[in-house]
Amino acid sequence: MQKSYLITTPIYYVNDEPHLGHAFTTLCADVYSRFLKIQRKDAFFLTGTDEHGMKIAEIAKEKGKSPKEFCDEISEKFKKTWKELSIEYDFFVRTTDKYHELAVKKFIEILKEKNQIYQKEYEGLYCVGCEKFLTEKELENGLCPHHKRAPLKLREKNYFLKIQDKLPKIKSLVETGKFKIFPEFAKKEVFGLLEQGLEDLSISRDKERVKWGIEFPGDKSQLVYVWFDALINYISSVGFARNKKKFERWWQKSFVVHFIGKDILKFHAIFWPAMLLCAKIKTPNQLAVNGFFTVEGQKMSKTLGNVIRPKDLIERFGVDATRYLILSQFPFGEDGDIKMSKFAEKYNADLAFGLGNLVSRVLNLAKKQNINLKKTLVQKSIENEVKRRKNNYQKFLINFGFYESLKEIWHLIHFCDKYIDKEKPWEKRENSKKVILNLGYCIKEISKMLSPFCPQKSKEIQEQIQEKKLEPLFKKL
Ligand code: MSP
Repeated sequence: MQKSYLITTPIYYVNDEPHLGHAFTTLCADVYSRFLKIQRKDAFFLTGTDEHGMKIAEIAKEKGKSPKEFCDEISEKFKKTWKELSIEYDFFVRTTDKYHELAVKKFIEILKEKNQIYQKEYEGLYCVGCEKFLTEKELENGLCPHHKRAPLKLREKNYFLKIQDKLPKIKSLVETGKFKIFPEFAKKEVFGLLEQGLEDLSISRDKERVKWGIEFPGDKSQLVYVWFDALINYISSVGFARNKKKFERWWQKSFVVHFIGKDILKFHAIFWPAMLLCAKIKTPNQLAVNGFFTVEGQKMSKTLGNVIRPKDLIERFGVDATRYLILSQFPFGEDGDIKMSKFAEKYNADLAFGLGNLVSRVLNLAKKQNINLKKTLVQKSIENEVKRRKNNYQKFLINFGFYESLKEIWHLIHFCDKYIDKEKPWEKRENSKKVILNLGYCIKEISKMLSPFCPQKSKEIQEQIQEKKLEPLFKKL
């Protein structure tokens, strides 16, 4: 039977509207899912919003709204942004949806049955921004290093999950490649964390304190810990509570790829598989971990006023160009810096001149010499060059080399430019027709390779070849 794939993004907190950081991870997952689907693989692409916890309740209160009202509003904004960015997800999960709540409760019931939960008095330092406990060592001058706020000192009786005895199994899953972690730095970090050892995971919170969440089954005084609730989205949305067949197909039998940022590695590489091992459910197969980017050398932050929203880029460059510009900045997995001026430069060089120019040159040559490009005729040497680039492109893309696979497309564009300059087909020499047909073949292949990245422009190139449309692909800025 053909392998199916479940592709997921993190589900985003609704305390902020979508920004370029969220867009980056989502875009990578979208390109990956489109690529698989183009290859006729069975793939399901999941994204959504994470809506419970103290952080969300606090901000809703600040805005004078009920938590649910506030979540509805921001969740809609995520959906709208993904539509504007041509993100083609198959399902959008919200942790305030009923099927999700049912799944969380069912999951806890299973853990109880398997004797994986116990109660314990706990004291710790809790950062609301991170929605997690921090150790003294992690603090900087008594503050959370990420949120620059003092953690709360908490002492409460919570439910704990027995994850400690699952750590050796997780280690062996990673070592044997049954649980793949890309890139290497992330894998090393996971080994480091496993080496240090971890305490059992607290999975509930006192309802007196956290007022917005799913009630802990069998104990009205507790709510489910927001991260525990959130991770279950990956199975709640594929039928865990209510649709056995769907769950079999998209979780149990699928190759599950979680796209995440490096900030949430511990939750996905350790807590999530540990939760599943406790419940005796299949664990995920792959983590694809992206680096973080800064804007003009600084962390994106509302206080600094340097937050880039996808909309800002789409208005200036258009959707497909925005998708290209975001993914062609630096390799997946690495940290990088974004400069608006570089976006404009790259737009003109790679899209308006590079790709756009090549397509219009080839189409004009064909038109002037009355050559029908719908026909495919190509010389072996040209076909081989395309094949070589295409093979590299596929190898890169399946291994999360978005940046590298785009480079392969642009190598092909430059190859065509050089070929035109060398053969000078505008001089209508004996072999001009052959040259133009070769170029027609190349731009058809380029448009196919572009499809997961720039779906609209890829279609436009094909329409132009079919003579249905003749407009410049990208206007120079
Ligand atoms: N709600 C949790 C995830 C739960 S998943 C079960 C969460 N949400 S978040 O809204 O804070 O989103 C974090 C994710 O956004 C990161 O892991 C990363 O994928 C993406 N990014 C946020 N800022 C980013 C950058 N500056 N650069 C790259 N990716 C960034 O954590």
